[in-house]
Amino acid sequence: MEKKTVALLFGGVSSEYDVSCMSVSSVWENVDREKYEPVLIGITREGEWLLYDGDIEKVRKGEWDKDSRHIKRAFICPDRSVHGAMVENESGWDILQIDVVYPVLHGKNGEDGTMQGLLEIAGLPYVGCKVLASAACMDKDVCHTLLEGAGIAQVKWLTYYKEAVDFEAAAKETDEKLGWPVFVKPANAGSSVGITKVKSAEMLKEAMELAFEHDVKIIIEEAVQSPIEVECAVLGNEELLVGGPGEIVPADEFYSYDAKYYNDESETFLNARIPDEMAEEIRETAKRAYKILGCKGLTRVDFLVNGETGKIILNEPNTLPGFTNISMYPKLIMNTGMTYAQLIDKLLELACE
Ligand SMILES: Nc1ncnc2c1ncn2[C@@H]1O[C@H](COP(=O)(O)OP(=O)(O)O)[C@@H](O)[C@H]1O
Ligand SMILES: [Mg+2]
Repeated sequence: MEKKTVALLFGGVSSEYDVSCMSVSSVWENVDREKYEPVLIGITREGEWLLYDGDIEKVRKGEWDKDSRHIKRAFICPDRSVHGAMVENESGWDILQIDVVYPVLHGKNGEDGTMQGLLEIAGLPYVGCKVLASAACMDKDVCHTLLEGAGIAQVKWLTYYKEAVDFEAAAKETDEKLGWPVFVKPANAGSSVGITKVKSAEMLKEAMELAFEHDVKIIIEEAVQSPIEVECAVLGNEELLVGGPGEIVPADEFYSYDAKYYNDESETFLNARIPDEMAEEIRETAKRAYKILGCKGLTRVDFLVNGETGKIILNEPNTLPGFTNISMYPKLIMNTGMTYAQLIDKLLELACE
């Protein structure tokens, strides 16, 4: 069998650049070399595209783009007759044909439908959700609206736009409609970047301004009381496999950027410490949301369970979740009996269906 060339895209103009570098290193090490010939195409924080053939450890540490002997300018070409990337040589450009793309990118410009749009134009099959599902899952305001419309319980929330914001009116509306505490979030971000838990009206403006640094649209959500945070890993196109729910116990007051990636006191459980019937209901809800949103390939669906009432609330879907071999998504799938390498193989297969 002829090997397929798989391009692993990583980095990107996103606040989750570092996470992507870690995720792609694990993917690189586990691609089945009998079936696939992987190549690494990195996108710097500034948005420069580079083919990289150096040591994977430099990718993991985020130092790959300084390795001048191992980088060449290269970019996915929108022209379908190329079916791949253009790679610079001393005198011009070579064509690198690609069979399938795995965008190991998180957050903006990777998980939000923009890269998926380029790959559609280029006529290249790729891992994960298509344009609409990626964009809808990325925007917390749009996603809440769609899921609420489909009868999947969401938190109460309010939406504000930067150009029209009146901070005093927002504080009053929040007080009346949501109460305190609340979570203030950029509509489009990820990894908890720009998110603040706000306990009183006095602190709201500062939190809104921080969120506006990341997006022109922000949301304010009521806080789920004594939240139990659980996550399901959904895999498939038509027929779905669901791993989990697993549980997260953040070391911080909430699952902040620091608690996610640096504070090793954050705990995770592969089997959430909740009753079986509740776990089953969460898995069913995750599948339903996946279908409604039109997800393909993979998505991690995150929930907040109210610790006082037991009400299950779908917090957010993540269409390209963290993917190191110790990340929740792969671990939940591995817990169903698949290996990490088999999971990658399956994702590449689903991409080519
Ligand atoms: N409405 C809420 N009630 C309670 N905790 C919340 C709420 N919204 C967010 N959180 C906490 O903040 C974290 C990050 O919020 P989330 O919406 O998941 O953003 P991100 O897309 O950046 O992961 C969650 O994992 C959870 O710990
Ligand atoms: Mg989250």
